[in-house]
Formats: sequence, structure tokens, C-alpha cells
Amino acid sequence: MKILVLNGSPKGEKSDTLHITRAFLEGMRDAAPQEVHIIHVIDRQIEYCSGCFSCMRNGGNCIHEDDMKAILEEILESELLLFSFPLYCYGMPAPLKALLDRTLPLSSMAMRKVGDRYEHLDQADFSHLKYLMICGCGFPNSRQNFEPAIMQFKLCFPCEHTILTVPESPMFNAPEAAVVTGPRLALVRRAGRQYAETGEIDAALLSEISSPIIPEEQYAAIVNGGV
Ligand SMILES: Cc1cc2nc3c(=O)[nH]c(=O)nc-3n(C[C@H](O)[C@H](O)[C@H](O)COP(=O)(O)O)c2cc1C
Repeated sequence: MKILVLNGSPKGEKSDTLHITRAFLEGMRDAAPQEVHIIHVIDRQIEYCSGCFSCMRNGGNCIHEDDMKAILEEILESELLLFSFPLYCYGMPAPLKALLDRTLPLSSMAMRKVGDRYEHLDQADFSHLKYLMICGCGFPNSRQNFEPAIMQFKLCFPCEHTILTVPESPMFNAPEAAVVTGPRLALVRRAGRQYAETGEIDAALLSEISSPIIPEEQYAAIVNGGV
């Protein structure tokens, strides 16, 4: 499978979340060979969308001449678009949001009603694409934390989306925590294998992956310097 990873962490290669993403990709490779390209979004020149809508009227040409043209081409050539990012203020970090806004040329101005919501008609054919979100965060709780990012992802990519959330993710960059992060990464790897084999991840496994790695009170105490 041709996989394009958009690493939205401003920390680039040092991202906590990227540990989770790499484990997932290893799991996918356990099932079959995969063609993976990782883009560290922070290293690319991506102007903010100007909101002029000219791209939606003129066949997808944006007024900005930057790295986004090549990224859009790469998105269209991929089979799986993997958004890997840390939760920032209950959403995605600004550089990745700038990239998401700049995918506007893939849609046209025309809109249609789907159920009780509206969406734009496509200007390019990306019906072959599947979407995966892998999101780490600093708090131990998944509820009252990940919901806005999950909702945004589902609305942007209503079909073929899969979402993996992992709390307490700074622990993945702490070698002394390997005794507890290792088993969690093994679960994520299993999820990657399952996803490559079946196109889905079972709900029990997803729920285990999104539970705190260590008890939340203990985690909070460590972060607060108490233990
Ligand atoms: C600006 C900023 C906003 C953040 N907002 C949240 C948040 O809303 N919820 C949360 O649980 N963690 C939040 N965090 C913590 C990060 O998600 C956490 O440190 C994560 O492990 C960083 O992952 P990365 O190394 O992949 O960038 C925030 C961190 C920063 C720097």
C-alpha cells in the first residue's frame, strides 16, 4: 500500500506521537510490504490559505507557489493518508491545520447535501484514498480531550476513516518508561497488522490503546514532580 504520513508535530523526528505511528506502520509491514513516505510538515513551506476561493473556480490552481503543489500531487498518488499529530488545544497543531486548509483545491465550490450536512463536490478524484488519524496527547484522559480533533477528522473525511488516540504520549520519549510503553506499542503494532489485513481495527483493541498507560493519578504526580 502506498502510504503518505503527514507528521504534524512541530518536533519533527523527535515527536512522541511518531513512536506510535512507527509501531503502527511496523504492524502494517508485518502483514505485507508497504511503501511509506513521511513528510515532516514543519520542514515544508506551506503558506496559509488566503480564502480567495480561486482554486475552487479554476481547476485547482492555488495562488500560492510553495511546497503544497507537490504535496497535493503526492496525496492524490497515495492510497492511505496518515495524519500523525499531537493534540494541541484540543485540535491539530497549526502547521498541519495550514496544510489541511490548503487541500481546498481538491474540492470545487459546488456543494451537496449528504444526510443533514453539506459538503463540497470533489474537483479531483481521491475516491481511492483511506484516512488514518494517530493522535497523542499530554493529559491522561481521552474523554473531554480528543473529541474536537476526532470530530474535525470525521467531518473532513467522512468515508474510510480510522482513528487512534493515545494519552500520556510524552512517555514514549522517556527511555525509563519503556517497561510500560513497550507493551502499549505492541498493541499499536497489532492494530497496524489488523488494519492492513482487514481495513479495520476492532473496538476492544482501540479502546485498550486509548486508555491511560499508567494510572492517571500516578502520571499526573510524575508530571507534577511529586514522584
Ligand atoms: C501548544 C500545546 C497545546 C497542547 N494542548 C494539549 C491538549 O489540548 N490536550 C492534551 O492532552 N495535551 C496537549 N498538549 C500536550 C501534547 O499533546 C503532548 O506534549 C504530546 O505528547 C506532544 O506530542 P509530539 O511530541 O508528537 O509533538 C499540548 C502541547 C502544546 C505544546
